[in-house]
Amino acid sequence: MSSKKSESVSQKIVILGTGGTIAGLSCVPGAGGDYKAAQVDVKTLVAQAGTGGTAPQPSASLQPVLVTEQLAQVDSKDMTEAIWQRLLQRVAQLQQDPEVQGIVITHGTDTLEETGFLLHACWPQGKPLVLTCAMRASDAPDADGPGNLRDAIGLATTPGLTGVRMVCDGQVFEGHVFQKVRTEGVQPFGAEPIGAIGECRDGHYVQHHEPDRTRAYPALTPTELARLLGAHRWPRVEVVTNHAGADGRLVEDLLTSMAASSATERLRGIVMAGTGGGGGSQQLVAALQRAQQQGVLVWRSTRATWGTVKSAPHERFTGVPWSPVKARVAMMLDMLIGRVEATS
Ligand code: SIN
Repeated sequence: MSSKKSESVSQKIVILGTGGTIAGLSCVPGAGGDYKAAQVDVKTLVAQAGTGGTAPQPSASLQPVLVTEQLAQVDSKDMTEAIWQRLLQRVAQLQQDPEVQGIVITHGTDTLEETGFLLHACWPQGKPLVLTCAMRASDAPDADGPGNLRDAIGLATTPGLTGVRMVCDGQVFEGHVFQKVRTEGVQPFGAEPIGAIGECRDGHYVQHHEPDRTRAYPALTPTELARLLGAHRWPRVEVVTNHAGADGRLVEDLLTSMAASSATERLRGIVMAGTGGGGGSQQLVAALQRAQQQGVLVWRSTRATWGTVKSAPHERFTGVPWSPVKARVAMMLDMLIGRVEATS
């Protein structure tokens, strides 16, 4: 490769905006406090982060150009599988583009862990793919989004970094391990027991430990990724929680509505957010067994924040090591790429 050509590759950081508080505006302009998420376009966010159109870290000769794209504009409570599909398709293109060095995604904190888990399943070793967010609106006097976005852009340019990361308040987490565990302050995430993989300090990334291999969804093969990218409709999978008084009626109602739904809308799976090690009340388990007999795939997870569920041989419902919402993503992936039969 000529030196001219090597200078012309790996020059862009693409920042995909999807909405969230990081793009929010205060109800009383500039005041902070109450706000509406997903109001400000990603180009403005990058300008407000003060990066001046190029990434902040590397030396002048290496400075990549920042390119923004508004992929969606939603409060992440309203994240949908359709947006995920568009996001996956766009990231797949960017992963293949030799001019793109890294990708940043701005996103709401509420469902960020689901999107992070999904992206990590697809590109655990790909170009740096860095998610970021904020807990305060973009026009709040103490807005945390600009700093988080600067960190994310810096991370995406970090030499040698691969795979999916999420940065918030200086803490860097692997895409699949973090969870929103707080509703206050500027650091809503945790990742027990391993914690953050690293941190951004004064614009530099410091790594604390090696990437986690135990909690990841088994990486997609190129064939499976192609199948996922070509999917037209994601399977319907619900989460049902065990709790005091759980009598299984919710599952019975799901089965009743399933009987009336079209083949494409049909319920395919249920993740039980069980108590403790992933258990359910006798009535809930009985109802889930009926669901299973009708072709619904049932997995066991736990509603305990930092819990994992072990799978045992000959168990009624497979136990999985992910939180209920991540297990739901994993089950949909399994069905979409053909690792488990999506019954019809
Ligand atoms: C959202 O998830 O879009 C709203 C909440 C947030 O970003 O903190």
